[in-house]
Amino acid sequence: MSGLNIDHIRAQFPALSPGGDATAPVFLDNPGGTQVPQTVIDAMVNCLVHANANLGGAFDTSERSEAIVAQAHVAMADFMNASSPREIIIGQNMTTLTLHISRSIGRLFSEGDEIIVTTMDHDANVSPWLLMARDHGLVVKFLPFNRETYEFDLTELDALLTNRTKLVAFNHASNMTGTINDVKSVVEHAHAIGALVYVDSVQFAPHGVIDVQDLGCDFLVCSPYKFFGPHMGVLWGRESLLLELDPYKVRPASDDLPDRFETGTLSHEGMAGITATIDYFATIGRNQADELYRSRYTHFNGRRQNLCAALDYLTDYEIPLTRSLIGGLSALPGVKVHGITNPNAMNSRVPTVSFTAEGHHPRDIAVALGKKGIQVWDGHNYAVEPVNHLGLMESGGVVRVGLAHYNTIEEVNLAVEAIAQHLGA
Ligand SMILES: Cc1ncc(COP(=O)(O)O)c(C=O)c1O
Repeated sequence: MSGLNIDHIRAQFPALSPGGDATAPVFLDNPGGTQVPQTVIDAMVNCLVHANANLGGAFDTSERSEAIVAQAHVAMADFMNASSPREIIIGQNMTTLTLHISRSIGRLFSEGDEIIVTTMDHDANVSPWLLMARDHGLVVKFLPFNRETYEFDLTELDALLTNRTKLVAFNHASNMTGTINDVKSVVEHAHAIGALVYVDSVQFAPHGVIDVQDLGCDFLVCSPYKFFGPHMGVLWGRESLLLELDPYKVRPASDDLPDRFETGTLSHEGMAGITATIDYFATIGRNQADELYRSRYTHFNGRRQNLCAALDYLTDYEIPLTRSLIGGLSALPGVKVHGITNPNAMNSRVPTVSFTAEGHHPRDIAVALGKKGIQVWDGHNYAVEPVNHLGLMESGGVVRVGLAHYNTIEEVNLAVEAIAQHLGA
């Protein structure tokens, strides 16, 4: 376990120490959304007080707003290792961004062309492509994941790829099984036949380093509110492709990047929060992570190097907690964890852990935990395909317990004990 100073981390999140007589809930719904450090809150408030204007005005407040918007693009370019902040499109959330750009991407394709989506994905990386296929007469193929290993088999991908395949859309990490996918290999196979690759990194982003240049994909999306930031979404696209696409935009809006895909007036306070979120990671990387972590990233410098170090450092803290959570759940009678459980394979998954318990409805378990101040999610979590693929839709889906680096081993134990108590184990 990394020597993370967990008290220092937790002290930065006001929601974790509400003060007075109040006790903070045990936040284990992190895959649904994370809590926010004070620095992010301050940056958002500061923007609303000092930089609250539309862009392009001939006055100070507008100039400050513009600076905040520009800084957020630079920060996200650092986070994803984009070649330029021009490749960063900021929007309301991942779903809206994907629906939006799918209309432009669809115009590249002709009737009878094929696309591949998967049975592992959140619906935000399935439905937009189904709608695009409907609008353009495309053939949709589903890449299934293996129900025992919870992974894709690349020979199955190869069997689906043809010279008419134009797009492969899949997730970096699943919001149901937690599996981390081998993005680079999928990209290699898809690019070999000339298909574009759209990667959903929403679940992966809080738990690892994203490097779009190394992954080699064409588009990648994530949502800052899943990694301690405000409710927004971010899309990275290869600059040449973003310029080639025909944007759905209003006429007065600039046709340059990133403006051509950033429709309307966005949340500038959210953008201020995004920059502070990236700086939150970088500060941990600079001040807390051992030199070992920074030395892995000497090919980067400044904020990028520090935030990469932080993400690895925080992941090393999370892994033993995930192992304990999965071990504790798996030991309970009738409980099945739907995801990778091998204690030595925790690097192949994020700490998003879904389970069912024989004879117990997921909702009942979530309600029982909620009464004890332990917050987990239940149902399909919009992971409609995976829950159907595992035959769990009719029985209420799963209970999902998801960790973040501000959680403690005590919280994990508390959750497992509460579940055991509810099950009468
Ligand atoms: C894997 C995954 N993709 C996409 C989404 C949708 O993200 P957003 O709420 O930003 O639209 C989620 C949200 O839970 C998710 O977990």
